[in-house]
Formats: sequence, C-alpha cells, structure tokens
Amino acid sequence: DELRAGLYAFDLVQRRAKRPAGAPDRSLARPVTKVGVVGAGLMASQLALLFARRLEVPVVLTDLDQARLDKGVGYVHAEVDKLLGKGRISADHANRLKGLVTGSLTKDAFADADFVIEAVFEDLGVKQKVFAEVEEVVSGTCVLATNTSSLSVTDMAAGLRHPERVVGFHFFNPVAVLPLLEIVRGAATDDATLATAFAVGKTLKKSCVLVKDAPAFVVNRLLTRFMGEVTAAADEGTPLEVADHALDSLGLPMTPFALLQLVGPAVALHVAETMRAAFPDRFGVSENLAKLVAAGKPGMYGPDLQIDPEVRTLFEGGSSPSTAEEVRLRALRALAQEIRLMLDEGVVAAPQDIDLCMILGAGWPFHTGGITPYLDRTGISEEVTGSRFLEPGVASVPA
Ligand code: 3HC
Repeated sequence: DELRAGLYAFDLVQRRAKRPAGAPDRSLARPVTKVGVVGAGLMASQLALLFARRLEVPVVLTDLDQARLDKGVGYVHAEVDKLLGKGRISADHANRLKGLVTGSLTKDAFADADFVIEAVFEDLGVKQKVFAEVEEVVSGTCVLATNTSSLSVTDMAAGLRHPERVVGFHFFNPVAVLPLLEIVRGAATDDATLATAFAVGKTLKKSCVLVKDAPAFVVNRLLTRFMGEVTAAADEGTPLEVADHALDSLGLPMTPFALLQLVGPAVALHVAETMRAAFPDRFGVSENLAKLVAAGKPGMYGPDLQIDPEVRTLFEGGSSPSTAEEVRLRALRALAQEIRLMLDEGVVAAPQDIDLCMILGAGWPFHTGGITPYLDRTGISEEVTGSRFLEPGVASVPA
C-alpha cells in the first residue's frame, strides 16, 4: 500500500501538477515586465526574491517606513549572497538580481507595473484600502494579486473600479522550498487575469492549483483544522510534548507546534479566527494560543528547542488530558470530515487535488500519498464519512 501510495503521489506531482485543472487558455495571458510588492515583511521579501530570480524583471517593494523597506531589501540581498555562497548563481547574476529589487516609500513606483502582489497584514479592510490605493496608480489591466492566507478574494475586489483583475496567489512558507501556488478565482476575476496568474506561476516554477474562493482555500483549511485539534487537546490538559508528537507516525516534515512557529502564532490565530467565523461548529480558537500571541512569543518552543516554561504555564489548568493515540485519532478524523466537506463544496475538483496540495504545499510525505490514501488505508475515511476517498487500486493494492 505504501508503494502504491508513493506511485500515486509521484503521478500527481509529475503529471497532474503540470496540467492544472480549470486553467484558462494560456494565449490569454498578458506579459509581465515589472512587479510591485506591497509590504516588506518576511513573506513580501521572500516573494520579491522569487519574482526577481525567476521573472528577471524589476521588482519594487513598498512599505510604510524606511526601516522596514531597508530590512526587506536587505533580506533579499542577503539571500542572494547565500545563493552565491552555495555556488548556485554567478557573481554577475547575483549583482543583477540585487539590482532588480528596490524599495519605495510611495506606490507611485508601481505606475508601470503589470503585476502587483500584496502581502500586508491579514485584515480585509487594510487589504481593500491597499488595492484601492494601487488602483489609483496602475494601468487598467495591471493584475492585482493577494497572498491572503484565508480572506475572501471576492470581498477584497469589491469596491474596485476593475474587480476583474484581482486574483488570489497564495504561497507557502518557506516560499523558496515549497512548490505549491494556490490560485484563487474571485467572483469577478476574468480569464485574462487568471491566465496571467497561471503563466506567472509557471515562470516562478511553482505548481499551480486552481482553488475555489472558500475560507482558507485548501492547505490552510486542513492545517488549521488539524492543528486546531492538537491545540485543543493541549488546552484540555494533554502534556504539550505528547500532543505535539502524537502524529509522529505519519512522517510529516514538522510537528504541529514546529509548524506553528514557522508560520507564526499571530498568522495562525488569524486564520483560526477566520475559520471559526465561517464554520463555528468545527473550528475553534484556542484561548491559550491567543495568550501566546498577546505575550509576543514566537511559538511554543524557546531558543533551546525545548518548550518555553512560560508557555507551559499558559497551558496549565486543563483537566481532561488525552493519550497520544487519542490525539492522533481525533486529528485524523477531523481531517477526513473536513476533506469530505471540501469535496462536497467543490473547493477542488477531486481528492487527488487535496493530496497534491498537501504534498506540495505542506511537504506531506509520498508514502501516505498526501493524506487521502492514508485515511482510506487506516479505515478512518469509511468510519467518519461512510466511504473511501479513492477506490481500491488507485493509491493502494487493488482489492
Ligand atoms: N527559507 C529558505 N530556504 C529554506 C528555509 C527557509 N526558511 N528553510 C529551509 N530551507 C531550505 C534549506 O536551505 C535547504 O535547501 P538546500 O537543500 O538548497 O540547502 C532545504 O530547504 C531543506 O532544508 P533542511 O534540510 O534544513 O530542512 P528540512 O528538509 O527539514 O525541510 C522544511 C524544512 C522545508 C521547512 C520542511 O520541514 C517542510 O516542508 N515543513 C512544512 C512547512 C509547511 O507546512 N509550510 C506551509 C505552512 S502554511 C503557509 O505557509 C501558508 C500561510 O498562508 C500561513
């Protein structure tokens, strides 16, 4: 079964990823000769580096103050130096890349850009304001892309003169490593915008999957549901190490709390809040996670890679601890339920797209076939949803 799941995963990343279901005719794509990035935080800086490296066009970052801009451009330059140090690029190439990425305090610098992506604070009002400001400066056909983790692309475009040029363009941390790009079509997005987004995604060497404009799209919806169960178990009194290692047997690239630290507790909290608002019966928001964010902690772990003692105190007080096995089953059952609902809602075309997204966007392993073959193999899909996701033989030994 593991071999079959691995072959299935290989076929997904080699074949299905190359012909994205639902992408419009590529001849509709418009050329992109200059890129604007709104924000100069860690995500925005990673995007600037990627666009400069793959598109080889000028990339301008904007932010509110010079210090943030300097930090953003500085990050790009440092990463270029690392590539040079590893021998991945030549000294000439490094100089050229550094020259392509600049910072500007005003959005006027976007005037001749064809593609502007925002990676600012996750707040609908803030993002709408950003797009309205950008629209004042750019041409009528410049694509406005959002790297939102969970907000509605349709709502973000509402109120613009040209809502048809807005598209979701959702990357995964670390951007340089994870190959997935979720492309989100809003209610008004036109084919030329979508085709341009797919063409840019391809030049960035990302595997693009078209996803519905549904809360948190695919990967964040599943990661949030899954992490929500693990965190809830910790809230209820399960020792943090037990909760965090309960899923080790799945062979995921990181434990849930290490992932929380990579994404950042504030972003994770934000996505959890959006999901609770959308689906209050299934998604909760951990008060302890909110306290962790309020305390300004980078995550559960301290610099010594041990649970931070202050964080441990925050989580004290739960009175119904679970065993590791109980946490594992709870998280897997939640995933099975959520995947079935996503397929019923048409968030993606098929279980194959869920698996493709989890392999490429969250590094989930080949031997689980992403996740649905594993849920089928362990009987959890049938137990929770009444049927398998994939027929026997698709990603398992034929019956
Ligand atoms: N930036 C750039 N490159 C990085 C990096 C980073 N932060 N972290 C690791 N890398 C590179 C390393 O340099 C190395 O490259 P090399 O082979 O060229 O030297 C390569 O990645 C592998 O690194 P390591 O061997 O150190 O580490 P691992 O093999 O353990 O992989 C990992 C690290 C890629 C982070 C892996 O653990 C992983 O895939 N984790 C899952 C992350 C995940 O789920 N992300 C999605 C989060 S959701 C999200 O981002 C959406 C947002 O909206 C919230």
